[in-house]
Amino acid sequence: MKAAAGKSPNVMLNNGAPMPALGFGVYRIEPERTTEAVLAAFAAGYRLVDTAAAYNNEREVGEAVRQSGIPRSEIFVTSKLWLSEYGREAAERAFDRSLDKLGLDYADMFLLHWPYPRAFDRTLEAYRVLERELEKGRVRAVGVCNHSAANLERLMAETEIVPAVNQVELHPFFTQRELARTHERLGVVTQAWSPLGGVNVYDAAPGKARRVLSHPVVVAIAEKMGKTPGQIVLRWHMQHGYAAIPKTVNPGRMAENMAVFDFELSAGDMAAIDGLDTGVRGGDDPQFVDTETYPVVILP
Ligand SMILES: NC(=O)c1ccc[n+]([C@@H]2O[C@H](COP(=O)([O-])OP(=O)(O)OC[C@H]3O[C@@H](n4cnc5c(N)ncnc54)[C@H](OP(=O)(O)O)[C@@H]3O)[C@@H](O)[C@H]2O)c1
Repeated sequence: MKAAAGKSPNVMLNNGAPMPALGFGVYRIEPERTTEAVLAAFAAGYRLVDTAAAYNNEREVGEAVRQSGIPRSEIFVTSKLWLSEYGREAAERAFDRSLDKLGLDYADMFLLHWPYPRAFDRTLEAYRVLERELEKGRVRAVGVCNHSAANLERLMAETEIVPAVNQVELHPFFTQRELARTHERLGVVTQAWSPLGGVNVYDAAPGKARRVLSHPVVVAIAEKMGKTPGQIVLRWHMQHGYAAIPKTVNPGRMAENMAVFDFELSAGDMAAIDGLDTGVRGGDDPQFVDTETYPVVILP
């Protein structure tokens, strides 16, 4: 996967549409900083922005899309439905509100933010709402987040459209190889959240480094290649064929994170990074996330 520095190549979705492999995540960016951050990301070459109803910054993402002057067709906007708004009517209202806040005629991708294993019927109803919005042309592709292979196959057995993407926690300390293989078999793109390890601190990581970007294996490869640890990890994602959505509010890091398409990791270095897997999540276990453990308030 090679492309000019400053631009991401695309991965192909199962509906035939291209999606930038490397995008910009806006979780934990305060609304008042979001428009500026997304504009800076566009200037650094990003064309995919990953937001969600639960991030309460969709309005500011839409504002950046309009202010950027970049043709709408060149920008890929992803948003997500929140758990408390699953079920048919709630999901319809939530979808309308998201498009309204974004101020867009269509979103490029809409995802279910989490499965709701204890109320899987409502997960299915919400997904069917996305399928209908796809038919109406108000969204171009639909998918899910945080689905295990079992939840994914359960959803696919009862709905029509194969999810284009499963966005899951994935980084060198939690590599999810089995799930990624399942995605390949099903034609679902693996999109990594917390691709740099996020804000997670691991006590049990190999070599005792508690963060992915300070692990000696990552740091040694970075020094050898004359790259930063962040670039090594994002390159690792790209060479595995994953999509990834790193977040930063720092324009220097935005450019750094995008400059991963003019070098290549050896098979040995890829294997060394694969070897850092702990099998332990840094984030929440999707089997147990629900509206009580995660009482998000979505602002009007
Ligand atoms: N679907 C889901 O359930 C779900 C869950 C979580 C996240 N996400 C999505 O995934 C995106 C990314 O996840 P994330 O924010 O958890 O993790 P991440 O992108 O792996 O890490 C973000 C952290 O790394 C820092 N950082 C960024 N680039 C860096 C670099 N080159 N060198 C050193 N530090 C760097 C950022 O700090 P600064 O900002 O200070 O630079 C921030 O603290 C989110 O924004 C969101 O869009 C989705």
